[in-house]
Amino acid sequence: MNNALAQADHAVETLRAQRQDDYYPQFHLAPAAGWINDPNGLVYINGVYHAFYQHHPYDENWGPMHWGHAISRDLAHWQHQPIALAPGDDYDKDGCFSGCAVDDNGVLTLIYTGHVWLDKVGDDDQVREVQCLATSEDGVHFVKHGPVLAPPEGIQHFRDPKVWRENDGWWMVVGAKQNGLGQARLYRSKDLRSWQFDRVLDGAQTLHQGYMWECPDFFPLGEKQVLLFSPQGLAAQGYRHRNRFQSGYLLGHWQPGADFNVTQPFCELDAGHDFYAPQTFTAADGRRLLFAWMDMWESPMPSKAHGWAGALTLPRELTLNAEGDVLMNPARELAALRGLPQRFAAAQLRNQRQLLAENLQELTLSLDLAASDAERYGIAIGDAARLYVDNQAHRLVLERFSEEPGLCGCRSVPLPAGDTLSLRVFIDRSSLEVFVNQGVACLTSRIYPTDGRRGVSLFAESGQAQFEALQGWELASIWA
Ligand code: FRU
Repeated sequence: MNNALAQADHAVETLRAQRQDDYYPQFHLAPAAGWINDPNGLVYINGVYHAFYQHHPYDENWGPMHWGHAISRDLAHWQHQPIALAPGDDYDKDGCFSGCAVDDNGVLTLIYTGHVWLDKVGDDDQVREVQCLATSEDGVHFVKHGPVLAPPEGIQHFRDPKVWRENDGWWMVVGAKQNGLGQARLYRSKDLRSWQFDRVLDGAQTLHQGYMWECPDFFPLGEKQVLLFSPQGLAAQGYRHRNRFQSGYLLGHWQPGADFNVTQPFCELDAGHDFYAPQTFTAADGRRLLFAWMDMWESPMPSKAHGWAGALTLPRELTLNAEGDVLMNPARELAALRGLPQRFAAAQLRNQRQLLAENLQELTLSLDLAASDAERYGIAIGDAARLYVDNQAHRLVLERFSEEPGLCGCRSVPLPAGDTLSLRVFIDRSSLEVFVNQGVACLTSRIYPTDGRRGVSLFAESGQAQFEALQGWELASIWA
């Protein structure tokens, strides 16, 4: 076996032996040890789901990027695999950056960015980025075939290819930076090896729309076409764009060979603190599913002290409702992790906090907005977070608490129309994912409870609140 891969696998095993699990997820994909960021190469092929990810196997910080690998037969239970790609060839000397996977007539094929620092390590102004190919016969070991697409003159960044098959050909969207502005570039190919430029699908007109568009993805959803991407450099506007970088989408219409006609401007996909670089894939039955990195660049990550950093979100299904909104809901396969349902009586609270259960990983409830007049009401997760209706701001707020100031504060979404707010909440050892009214909004944040205390309480401050349809589950581990 390739020496760089064997060394990297050995490094993960060594770190794994020292890993502490206080914050280690029970039901989210995370590295066995070391660092991960973006999900890569999400694909269903030959009866197996593959999830690759940006991985630094040598320690808990970002470094020369490898591709870690995990597989699943049911999208609920996962197994770590040997590391799939290690950097080291002249074209990917400093990193195998993000990319995708396709099923090329049964051959698992990866298309990724080979990254090289031309001057100092970390100097983003001096980089060479090319799109590279690797294939596997057994779904575990990969043969690199080198670069298949280099950027034209004048492109400063060029990375994160996402490839799909359409009619009799292959298409690729790539994130780029040209003249200091982000863009999504479209290419076409007959054989995955030779690529022709088609057009710029869309790009920033001003710096306010981003200096670089990372991790683009382009796919149909219902009657619409979605351009999903992660722009860097958007300024915060009120409640929007609060994180270091954003992830969201443009909606429009597209036919192969034509321009992308945008009908709806940029909209963030998740309103929490920790959601970046999402990538979609097609499930065995054709549903459009997505994973994202459940962290944010430059955020404090307390799990580093425990020998690992980074996790992926739950797999989520994307759909379009009749109003043309993109909905995001947990993949239905996750129900396989549920223990017996625990039902709780409806509760009316007035200026009170009441423990509901000590150990739930999934909880559904609805709040009767018409029958509640408390200024703030909702649930608390130990001392780590609260999820509540702010009756003055008319928003649903996710607030997290920590001794680390960089991990405190609120993210929120407007209350949806109607009298019922229905919430589906997933609580892992260091994360909270909230799905609002069947997916019209989502909030995803990392949380770090003290001593693992994640008991769920209901509360109502300065008034009364009506809680209904309370049901909870313990979830099994995803690790086989
Ligand atoms: C997004 C990103 C990608 C790049 C990768 C490097 O988080 O910056 O653009 O390929 O991470 O790890």
